Amino acid sequence: MRILSGIQPSGTLHLGNYFGMMQPAIALQHQGEAFYFIADYHSMTSLFDPAERRKNSMAVALDFLACGLDPKKSVFFKQSDVPEVTELAWLLTTLTPMAMLENCHSYKEKLARGISPNHGIFAYPVLMAADILIYDSNLVPIGKDQKQHVEVTRDIAIKFNHTYGETFVIPKEQIRESTAVVPGTDGDKMSKSYGNAIEIFGDEKTLRKKVMAIKMDSRQPAEPKPDADQNLAIQLLKVIDAGVGKEFEEKLRAGGLGYGDLKKKLFEVYWEHFAAARVRRAELTANLDYVHGVLNDGAAKARALAQQVLHRARTASGLE
Ligand code: TRP
Repeated sequence: MRILSGIQPSGTLHLGNYFGMMQPAIALQHQGEAFYFIADYHSMTSLFDPAERRKNSMAVALDFLACGLDPKKSVFFKQSDVPEVTELAWLLTTLTPMAMLENCHSYKEKLARGISPNHGIFAYPVLMAADILIYDSNLVPIGKDQKQHVEVTRDIAIKFNHTYGETFVIPKEQIRESTAVVPGTDGDKMSKSYGNAIEIFGDEKTLRKKVMAIKMDSRQPAEPKPDADQNLAIQLLKVIDAGVGKEFEEKLRAGGLGYGDLKKKLFEVYWEHFAAARVRRAELTANLDYVHGVLNDGAAKARALAQQVLHRARTASGLE
């Protein structure tokens, strides 16, 4: 089984990204042949700073490798190192009805927010379809927001197969459910753009401050708290370590646990959880040649496969 997913290079990753996306992706590498790429072509629809793009792409690579992505098990690469995908996107775009793209939520949302989208934003589901189809992917692990794009991919693949003969493997999505919602420091969904994120990697003092600033109510420590499961620090603790989370939820419910001590515990558990990854990330940062090597190897493997599938599509459609 071939598993494929793309990761937006959006800068420093936070706990929401980690538990929502990275951890499940890393776990999946044991269940099949995983292809994971850094979606730098996609980042071009909305980021126009070249230095920032380079920096973000490298940061995501470091984060994933530090958190346990194993380049011996998975093929890990940068999307733009396989330029064949843009050619396939053209072959697909000529079979994509305008109405299908006009109907995509991500595009409609941009319109609704009054943004005048560039053509890249409009056409982005077709590039995503090419990403998926060019590796004969069977399974595409994604968040709920991407479900429609995999449906679009299937529709395009079926249409291509129908028009030009059997060419593409029809992929299936795997939606990540429960772990996906990690609350931020204000109780809203954790998101970089909401300013409520706790990063996975960063300066200890700054991060401790962030955790200690999580808002609590004014009840006294001694007071029992029947609503302990609603407490933000408890919710985060449970995401990171279910056992400790449960234990502290009971303590908070019974009364006698102060919010300061609870948040101290949360910080400790969080800091400890990423201790090994932090060391690993520092090692990788000091050895960027290794990281470039991993991405180059990944690209070579991915590209060899992409060229075969593209050849199939070119032949089927009469280009060759
Ligand atoms: N669009 C995805 C996101 O925003 C990233 C992505 C690009 C992707 N190409 C993909 C995911 C192909 C899965 C398969 O998260």
